[in-house]
Amino acid sequence: MSASFATVEPVPASVPRELVRDASFDRLTAAGDDPWRAVAALHDEPPVIWMTDASFGRPGWVLTRHDVIAEAFIDWEHFSSQRSGMVADLLGEPVRLNPIEIDPPRHHAFRRVLNPFFTPAAVKDFDAPVRQCARELIAQFAGRGECEFVDDFAVPFPSYVFLDLMGMPRDRLGDFIAWQNDLMRATDPMQRVAAARAIYAYLKQHMAAQQANPTNALLRAMVTAEIDGRPIDYYELMGMFYVLYVGGLDTVYSTVGWILHHLATHPQLQSRLRADPAAIPQAIEEFCRAFSVVVTHRSVAKDFTFHGVPMKQGDEVNLPIMLANRDPAVHADPHLVDIDRKPRHITFGTGTHNCVGLHLAKRELRIVLEEFLATFPSISLKPGETPRYHTGRTFGFDYLPLVLG
Ligand code: HEM
Repeated sequence: MSASFATVEPVPASVPRELVRDASFDRLTAAGDDPWRAVAALHDEPPVIWMTDASFGRPGWVLTRHDVIAEAFIDWEHFSSQRSGMVADLLGEPVRLNPIEIDPPRHHAFRRVLNPFFTPAAVKDFDAPVRQCARELIAQFAGRGECEFVDDFAVPFPSYVFLDLMGMPRDRLGDFIAWQNDLMRATDPMQRVAAARAIYAYLKQHMAAQQANPTNALLRAMVTAEIDGRPIDYYELMGMFYVLYVGGLDTVYSTVGWILHHLATHPQLQSRLRADPAAIPQAIEEFCRAFSVVVTHRSVAKDFTFHGVPMKQGDEVNLPIMLANRDPAVHADPHLVDIDRKPRHITFGTGTHNCVGLHLAKRELRIVLEEFLATFPSISLKPGETPRYHTGRTFGFDYLPLVLG
């Protein structure tokens, strides 16, 4: 665990007792059969509360409203992202996911390297390979009239896109899917460690090859980047390779699952989008608002008072983005998925760390919808089967059997 998470007592003396909830965030979200409504119970709480189990057994602050969550995203001087996180813990190597685990001003130097390759205009170049990925995967089950969406599509799809983005050979897809499965879904921690190490080893040799002979413009920019007037160093570059891998995996896999589940249970919406594919981009915005899968976090950089609440350096702060996007003070009838509204969502974060891949992600989602709706005249849940999902750092399906008419 990072030194930045100094808080270990379930309730430090600095926390006002009236804000303490002796409860588990993960248990709350897993209750019932709709995690979005379950988590929204926190809208009845004050905007800032302390939970004794805010995240995987760790105590911390939980922000419960759009306004305070957005403010914490923007105020990086008090809410720090600087930490050694998941990958460093798994690998035992000082790899910081770069730039997501680095605060400004250093953050900006790394972000400047990536930004030009992820503008709306730049990501259009990925349309053809992304569509090809989607088509190849769909072709593998189209004839069966059914699929298990998670294993057959949602898991392999982002790995496929990543291989293309990073100029890696497609024949490594099998390895990447296996690693991704273990990294994200294995219950045995040693399996997760082994997957993280295998990915690291592969990225390391790919990085060395790219340093010798970069095969696309993004890779060239990364391996030749200058940070504060000196060449990017080994761990900085590794962190950048790694973040492009993990940034677009869990997030895309999870979001696309909720969208397909929603379509499978709303045949009229399917018909509308099939008849009018031009409405798909606006539907994607609403789906992103309603199915906002990420719970991110910060640590308090220095003692200060936030909305009257005393926070201490090192306190963990959880930002469940779904609480912002389903806040009734901002979105009328927040649990209604209505593609005609123009939602001001913060699904991709906001402020300095806002998602570098957001335009790519939206295009990926759009292409998946276009391909599924064009290929299958009807999409429904498989009768007699019960989809299963998890909550936690992301909300995503584990099992989603679909009938494809
Ligand atoms: C539906 C899909 C996606 C969602 C919901 C999503 C969400 C997010 C969120 C909420 C953040 C901010 C995290 C924070 O501030 O703590 C973020 C950052 C980031 N995302 Fe995404 N993301 C998605 C897809 C992608 C893709 C496809 C990529 C790959 C290029 C990507 C790469 C990144 C990177 C590198 C950052 C760090 C940016 C920084 O620190 O400046 N994301 N994403």
